[in-house]
Amino acid sequence: MTSSSARNAGPVPSDAAGQTSAPYGSNDSPPDRKRKQVTTARIADMRARGERIAVLTAYDATFAAVADAAGVDCIMVGDSLGMVCQGMTTTVGVSLEAMRYHTKCVAQGLARSQGAALLIADLPFGWYQQSREQAMASAIELMQAGAHMVKLEGGGWTTEIVEFLVQRGIPVCGHLGLTPQTVSALGGYRIQGREKDAADRVQADARALEVAGASMLVLEMVPAQLAASITRDMTSCATIGIGAGNGTAGQVLVMHDMLGINLGRMPRFVRDFMKGADDVQSAFSAYVASVKNGSFPHNEHHAW
Ligand code: KIV
Repeated sequence: MTSSSARNAGPVPSDAAGQTSAPYGSNDSPPDRKRKQVTTARIADMRARGERIAVLTAYDATFAAVADAAGVDCIMVGDSLGMVCQGMTTTVGVSLEAMRYHTKCVAQGLARSQGAALLIADLPFGWYQQSREQAMASAIELMQAGAHMVKLEGGGWTTEIVEFLVQRGIPVCGHLGLTPQTVSALGGYRIQGREKDAADRVQADARALEVAGASMLVLEMVPAQLAASITRDMTSCATIGIGAGNGTAGQVLVMHDMLGINLGRMPRFVRDFMKGADDVQSAFSAYVASVKNGSFPHNEHHAW
């Protein structure tokens, strides 16, 4: 903007919450967009109001746009892409380049369809463990590819990394419980935090991640009671469960699982939303509705 146009622009309008219009012509909610952009502030507000947050993975432009049109709040470009797109047996071999590529595909799909979902991208194994600086460089790649937030796995040692990223303007989602990148160390895809010591550790790690500034926290395959207790403990961070019962602030599923397509065995915590749906968008909409009204997951059928 030139200095004369800046002078002519007049006062920047602000809404009731005192938020000004987006600067630099970045219209964050264009007039024909069907719903408002989901932001970290909006996620925090949903958590505070008790509106459940529906998160779904997607890895390409079209599925991302369809998920967005179905009302999904956050789209996660998970490193599960290594398993569902690339055919690997774990997420360990996923590269930063693969994450950057799929994040960009999803971001472009959302931009083209004027999507509103918050885009979360996974930092892959080997690209944040060495140092805060390595994590920052990797996060920059994903943010520049279009992510609004990055996710990383693990507790304790990750706290200082989360703080480092958050202080530098990168929203972060933590991931505790079953952390697939360290499946070898965990001895398989099994429920975590069953014994008291392990449960206390997960709870303490969750608290530390919130203090470090994590906006969201995925809890994967932990007992429903533990996930609910962590959720109650949180004052700002939104817990997102997967195989963690219905007491979390939101839910996430891998898209292929909830569409009933899986090369292996379907995990207990999944519901096939394609059953009874006419098309993929209806299946996504049914997922969003079931998360929002609390009917999915069912603690008896989908949790421990
Ligand atoms: O990689 C992934 O898709 C994930 C979600 C299932 C939480 O981490």
